Amino acid sequence: MRKTALITGVTSGIGLELARLFAIAGYDLVVVSRSKDKLKRVKEEFEREFHIGVLAIAQDLSLDGAPERIVKELDKREIELDVLINNAGVGEFGLFWEQDPEKIRHMIHLNALALTDLTRLIVPKMVSRGRGRIANIGSVASFFPGPYMAVYFATKAYVLSFTQALSEELSGTGVSATCVCPGRTATGFQRESHQESSRAIKGKRLLSPEFVARLAFDAIMKRDVVCIIGFRAKLNALLSKVLPLWLVRRIAKSKMAPIR
Ligand SMILES: NC(=O)c1ccc[n+]([C@@H]2O[C@H](COP(=O)([O-])OP(=O)(O)OC[C@H]3O[C@@H](n4cnc5c(N)ncnc54)[C@H](OP(=O)(O)O)[C@@H]3O)[C@@H](O)[C@H]2O)c1
Repeated sequence: MRKTALITGVTSGIGLELARLFAIAGYDLVVVSRSKDKLKRVKEEFEREFHIGVLAIAQDLSLDGAPERIVKELDKREIELDVLINNAGVGEFGLFWEQDPEKIRHMIHLNALALTDLTRLIVPKMVSRGRGRIANIGSVASFFPGPYMAVYFATKAYVLSFTQALSEELSGTGVSATCVCPGRTATGFQRESHQESSRAIKGKRLLSPEFVARLAFDAIMKRDVVCIIGFRAKLNALLSKVLPLWLVRRIAKSKMAPIR
């Protein structure tokens, strides 16, 4: 029987490359993003190229009720998920008190609340079937506070903490939870989050989304609990555990600061 993976945030970047790998592996896909046109292009390309079934659901996950609407679509078509990947996420660079409050709420809603709601709606069905995989896309930002991206880093700390705890609760059920924590990756994310002026990005070599997706795919298949991707990300995650908190904060601030 064919398997099905639902992936959010598939119209670009890491989500698009992850969707491609699941398609190559023969999974049918349920793909979720806001842009109907881009989703349509992904659906048409993947159906043609990989001969799989693709259900495209256009939803803004930062809006109330979006996860429920997605699950309703699945139930209507009697689609059972083998894999759920909560990938869609946004960031915002700049001083916290100068950021648009609406954007801050949108970010928390998408990065933390929608991920939690979708997982809460789908996990019980996986547990009752005794199989399934959940993957949440965290970040190197999950491991320490991020001055100039304070809320984004906090949402990613939430993703790591939540996913690790969930994986323990799920042990013995046949369902796994994996938190994928990539380092900086060359996607539209930097532009969308206005990070171009940050020291963390400018002139730095970034990971490719293809590389990140390949390692993420392997980790999800192996049911790893935490998968940190990239040498610098691994080093930073390690340093955040061994250095005093005040020093971690200062280093993070100097690395994130805007170049004037
Ligand atoms: N790039 C990095 O340096 C990096 C590093 C570590 C972790 N991450 C994480 O990796 C994940 C993917 O990011 P990316 O770098 O691949 O970014 P990206 O290229 O900007 O892709 C983001 C995807 O999310 C979708 N999306 C955005 N807002 C949405 C909303 N409200 N509802 C539904 N879908 C929405 C976008 O599609 P639409 O615009 O069509 O909705 C797009 O498909 C994010 O969780 C990010 O935090 C990124």
